[in-house]
Amino acid sequence: MLPWVEKYRPKTLDEVIGQENIVKLMKSFLKQKNMPHLLFAGPPGVGKTTVALAFANELFNGQLSGNFLELNASDERGIDVIREKVKEFARVIPQNDVGFKILFLDEADALTPEAQQALRRMMEVYSKQTRFILSCNYPSKIIEPIQSRVSILRFQPLTKKDIEKLVKRIAKEEKLELEEGVIDYLYEISEGDTRKILNILQGAAYLGKHITLENIKKISGAVFSEEMKGLIELLRKGEFKKAREQSIKLMVEYGVSGEEFLMSVYRTVLKMDIPDEEKAQYIEKIAEYNFRIVEGANERIQVDAFLSELLLLSKNR
Ligand SMILES: Nc1ncnc2c1ncn2[C@@H]1O[C@H](COP(=O)(O)OP(=O)(O)OP(=O)(O)O)[C@@H](O)[C@H]1O
Ligand SMILES: [Mg+2]
Repeated sequence: MLPWVEKYRPKTLDEVIGQENIVKLMKSFLKQKNMPHLLFAGPPGVGKTTVALAFANELFNGQLSGNFLELNASDERGIDVIREKVKEFARVIPQNDVGFKILFLDEADALTPEAQQALRRMMEVYSKQTRFILSCNYPSKIIEPIQSRVSILRFQPLTKKDIEKLVKRIAKEEKLELEEGVIDYLYEISEGDTRKILNILQGAAYLGKHITLENIKKISGAVFSEEMKGLIELLRKGEFKKAREQSIKLMVEYGVSGEEFLMSVYRTVLKMDIPDEEKAQYIEKIAEYNFRIVEGANERIQVDAFLSELLLLSKNR
């Protein structure tokens, strides 16, 4: 059975939800049958790969083979794949009436700076016959000489309206009945990441066509605001040991990642009835630890250190 993420991947630009400015721009490239090198930047699951595929599909009339190549930079990290695979594809003259081919390089920010230099040279040498679309979560990890040679398109997290449209589209196709509050809840835990929503919804649908909030919670393993609120209250009272146990439970039993953990603290703190100054201190720490985790530091240790800092803050208050 096809995962819904694939089953409901838009085939044309018109089916893409949200990202209006980007879709408009891509449509104008389609009309001109021409495009510059592009850098798609934005969080996971907001349509970067989808837009590239839909665009290529329309541009090449469904003939992707030979005209469109998708590589994932994080699977085959390093300079060799760039030299070999990219070159092999990019240097061959296109056999189509568009006049160029497209190379889509997913997770380009996983490439080392050296590999990016090699890529940059190829983008120059073969630009006539091959246009590059690079995709990344963090554009700041792309070297400056590439950034200055591409048009950067920034994808936004989908809005609540967008998510509603998507979930209703699928509910109709799959004949699902949504309990009140399900869409709001999905939006809240997804951060606009459509992939997450589709996977959770598909999981919940296994449990029954009537989609209840309870089943969504079971499937998503998301950190419920209530539990996070409890954890923060414990730290405010100086109960480090209990708070830490709670954090381990969330991360180990529910499989919450370090980034999700911090995101949940962030959402919860904003809603809590505590002084603004205290919120500001928390947010500053959340930002700092989020950055460390994104840079690749060990998640468990970082979350522990984060809790320690919050504890110290509460002691000094
Ligand atoms: N804007 C959108 N409209 C409709 N469906 C979407 C949209 N964005 C994502 N999806 C759905 O979510 C799935 C994942 O999206 P996609 O692969 O495009 O994410 P991405 O932005 O490339 O993320 P990543 O950074 O993780 O590669 C798609 O298969 C599609 O079903
Ligand atoms: Mg992608």
